[in-house]
Amino acid sequence: MSEDHSKAVRIGLLGRGTVGAAFEELIDRRAAAVEAATGRRPRISGVLTRAGGDFEQIVDDSDLIVELIGGTDPAREYVLGALRRGRPVVTANKQLLAQHGEELFEAAREAGVQLRFEAAVAGVIPIVRVIQESFGVTEIDKVFGIVNGTTNFILSEMAASGAPYEEVLARAQDLGYAEADPGDDINGADAAAKMAILARLAFHTPVTLSDVPHEGIEQISSDDLAYAKELGLSLKLLGVAERRQGGISVRVFPCFLYGGHPLAPVEGPFNAVMVEAPEITEVTMSGPGAGGMETASAVLGDVVSILGGEAPVHEARERLPLVGDVASSFYLHLAVADRPGVLAQIAQVLGDKGVSVKSVVQQGAGDDARLVMVVHECLESRFAEALEAIDALDVLRAPARAIRVIEEEFV
Ligand SMILES: NC(=O)c1ccc[n+]([C@@H]2O[C@H](COP(=O)([O-])OP(=O)(O)OC[C@H]3O[C@@H](n4cnc5c(N)ncnc54)[C@H](OP(=O)(O)O)[C@@H]3O)[C@@H](O)[C@H]2O)c1
Repeated sequence: MSEDHSKAVRIGLLGRGTVGAAFEELIDRRAAAVEAATGRRPRISGVLTRAGGDFEQIVDDSDLIVELIGGTDPAREYVLGALRRGRPVVTANKQLLAQHGEELFEAAREAGVQLRFEAAVAGVIPIVRVIQESFGVTEIDKVFGIVNGTTNFILSEMAASGAPYEEVLARAQDLGYAEADPGDDINGADAAAKMAILARLAFHTPVTLSDVPHEGIEQISSDDLAYAKELGLSLKLLGVAERRQGGISVRVFPCFLYGGHPLAPVEGPFNAVMVEAPEITEVTMSGPGAGGMETASAVLGDVVSILGGEAPVHEARERLPLVGDVASSFYLHLAVADRPGVLAQIAQVLGDKGVSVKSVVQQGAGDDARLVMVVHECLESRFAEALEAIDALDVLRAPARAIRVIEEEFV
C-alpha cells in the first residue's frame, strides 16, 4: 500500500464494462460496510477505458488497482506496472493469470504487495480463497468441476429439450448466457484457463494454459444425451486437475456422470467445484458462474481481503511432471449393421485390448441399429487403440463416438 494514512482507500479502476460498471455501483452501495469491516472507506479515484483515462495518473492517485479490462494485452503491462509501483492489484482476468501467472506473482512478491484474483475462476464461488487459505496446507489430490456456465447451460438445455446444439446455442445467446463469439467457451479454452489457475494453486507448481489439453462440446449430439439418459447419465463439461503417477494431469473434456454424483444436478449457467484430499474427504461448492454483479462482488471481496492485510503466498515449489496418458471410463456409441454376431465381434476387439464392458444397451433395428455401452476405466491410449480397431470393422455404419464417464456411483 502507498503511504496513505487517511481513512479513505483510493481505487484505480481499469475497465468499466459489464463487471467494472457493476463494481463501481457496488462500491457506492457497500462503502459503509467496507469501512465498518476494515476501517477504510473505498472510493473510485480514477477510471481507464478505451475512451479515456491516463494509466500513470490513475496509479499516482490510487492505493489499489482493480483490473477489469480482460485479455492479456495491455492488461499484463498495466498489472505489472501497478505491482511494480507498489500497488496491490485485484483482477478478474483468467487469461492473464493462466498465461502470465508466474511473472505476475513474482512481481507482486518483489514489490511486497498482494495480487488477488478470486473472480477469475468460477464466478462468485470463493474457490481461490478456499484452496489458498482454508486448504493452504492440505495435500490436495484433486480439484475438478464445472467451471464454464455457458456450456453447462447448453448441455442442460439439450438434455431437457432434445433440441440440437445449434438451436440451443442460439437460445443461450438470446438469453445473454453466451457471447456473440462463444468460441473459447464452446471449445473448452475458457475452462482450461481456469483449471490452469486452480491446478497452480492446488499443487503449488507452475501450470499454464498451454499445459491443459481441452476438448469442447461442439461434437455432442442430442441423441448421445438421450441414450445416456437411459443409462442414468448426465453430460457435463468437466475441468479436472489431479495428482497422477507422481505428476499431475490437468484436462478439460465433456464427461458423463451417474445420477447421485454431486455435480450431476448442477444445471443451467451454474458452476460447481469439488476439492478432494484425504483429510477433508471432499468439499463441493456451487454458485453462479458469471454475471456483472456476481463477479463484481467477488472483486469487492478481494479488495476487503487486501484491506484486511492477509497475504497468501504464491511461491511455486518443485515443478511436477505433466502426466499425458491417464485412465478413464468411456461411453461408446456405435451405429452398427443389424446382423447376428456384431456385438460379439465388438466385444472381441475390446477384450483383445483389455477394455472391459460395464453395461450395454441395444437400440433400434435395421438402419437405426445402435449399441450404446459404458466401458470400465482403462488407459486412454489403450482405449484409443480399441476405438481404431472397432472403426476398422465392416460392421459400423458411422464412425464410433466416445465420451468419457466418471464411473464412481454416489448414493
Ligand atoms: N462478464 C462476466 O460475467 C465475467 C465473469 C467473470 C470474469 N470476467 C472477467 O472480467 C473482466 C472484464 O470483463 P467484462 O465482461 O466486464 O468486459 P467488458 O464488458 O468487455 O469491459 C471491458 C472494459 O475494458 C475496457 N478496455 C478494453 N480494452 C481496453 C484498453 N486497451 N485500454 C483501456 N481499457 C480497455 C473497455 O473500455 P470501453 O468501455 O471504452 O470499451 C471496457 O470498459 C475480464 O477479464 C473477464 O474475463 C467477466
